[in-house]
Amino acid sequence: MNEFFIKPKIKFGIDSLDYLESLTSKKYFIVTDDSMVKLKIIDKILEKLPKNSEIDIFSEVIPNPTVETIENGLKKLIKFNPECVIALGGGSPIDACKGMLYFEKKVAEECSEKIKPFRHFIAIPTTSGTGSEVTSYSVISSGENKIALANEDMLPDIAILNPEFMKTLPPKIIADTGMDVLTHSLEAYISLKSNPFTSAMAIEAIKLIESNLLKHYKNPQELYHREKVQDASCLAGVAFNNSSLGINHSVAHTIGAKFHISHGRANAIVMPYIIQVNKNAWKEYAKISKELGYEFSTVVEGKDAFVKLVEELKKEMQIETSLSQVGVEFNEFKSKIPILIKDIKKDICTEYNPETLSDEEYVKLLLKIYFGNNDI
Ligand SMILES: NC(=O)c1ccc[n+]([C@@H]2O[C@H](COP(=O)([O-])OP(=O)(O)OC[C@H]3O[C@@H](n4cnc5c(N)ncnc54)[C@H](O)[C@@H]3O)[C@@H](O)[C@H]2O)c1
Ligand SMILES: [Fe+2]
Repeated sequence: MNEFFIKPKIKFGIDSLDYLESLTSKKYFIVTDDSMVKLKIIDKILEKLPKNSEIDIFSEVIPNPTVETIENGLKKLIKFNPECVIALGGGSPIDACKGMLYFEKKVAEECSEKIKPFRHFIAIPTTSGTGSEVTSYSVISSGENKIALANEDMLPDIAILNPEFMKTLPPKIIADTGMDVLTHSLEAYISLKSNPFTSAMAIEAIKLIESNLLKHYKNPQELYHREKVQDASCLAGVAFNNSSLGINHSVAHTIGAKFHISHGRANAIVMPYIIQVNKNAWKEYAKISKELGYEFSTVVEGKDAFVKLVEELKKEMQIETSLSQVGVEFNEFKSKIPILIKDIKKDICTEYNPETLSDEEYVKLLLKIYFGNNDI
């Protein structure tokens, strides 16, 4: 049966943080990272929470959060037993917080507790971004692997989109996270599970990225473009939460975990090569180019016009075009090809990709990505 749904209420705009003033809980647990404390972004949250409430902060989340991070946070969460949990930060703190809430429920189920813990869950993203504030996914790193958990129990009750927080983002992170948004919307649009609802949101997100990402990258202080990229991030999150992603993400998860490349950058590096191998979706890429107003006569030209946009964005934002450019050593890469293919195939995002690749095709794809050469 087909379904489209949105769970969190989304509070957005410059005054969206005022929502926190309406809260009546007595105990708050905040999951965040060190940067949010150093940049004093967390102070903006603390100022708004009810006076005399008890607050505990877990600020030890690292980028690409690990199983250990979740375990440590979970212990603190259970001990403190809050009524309300707030995740503040990029995808890493939000995913870590979701992981804690997920495993807390699992533990309760296994102990056959009749009353499962209920925590009012608020997500406040500070990157634009993963869209994690509106998705039922949490990506956890374990050794050299990234595992994507999927469960609706992890969906926040409230998402607060406040563009103020994105002012402090370094351009490199704007580039990486912005390209993640483009990948989400693109993969939602071409997914085998796409539908009119997801496609409408995905195409709007792509348009917003095309018109605003570079401007936001060049001038993070300017509110208009910052806000539009944030809107795109959330729209793309709702779209892919309903239609699933594709092998751009599977490959990015795998190479990101093995060679320590940030999530968005890994997506951006592999994107032009994935578009070329996704032949079953060339028509869809061409449709996107049409929506963007590009002129072309054939499907191949339409698809190429979109690839050109991706390459231009990458060039302007100084994103590498290959794994060799990122400094991955060839012999190490070559020795890992079999395990890379195994991990890509079992990644949760592979199932609804419009094209199914053979092992031989994956080898070719990975070599193209390594050398930055589409003609291999
Ligand atoms: N749950 C999902 O649906 C989903 C989707 C895509 C990716 N992910 C996962 O999300 C993680 C990546 O999240 P991300 O790209 O948002 O980055 P991140 O949360 O890892 O943050 C990257 C860096 O930016 C800093 N930062 C965050 N906000 C800032 C701000 N406003 N000002 C200055 N610095 C700031 C952080 O402290 C960190 O050092 C990965 O683990 C990825 O696999 C999850
Ligand atoms: Fe992503």
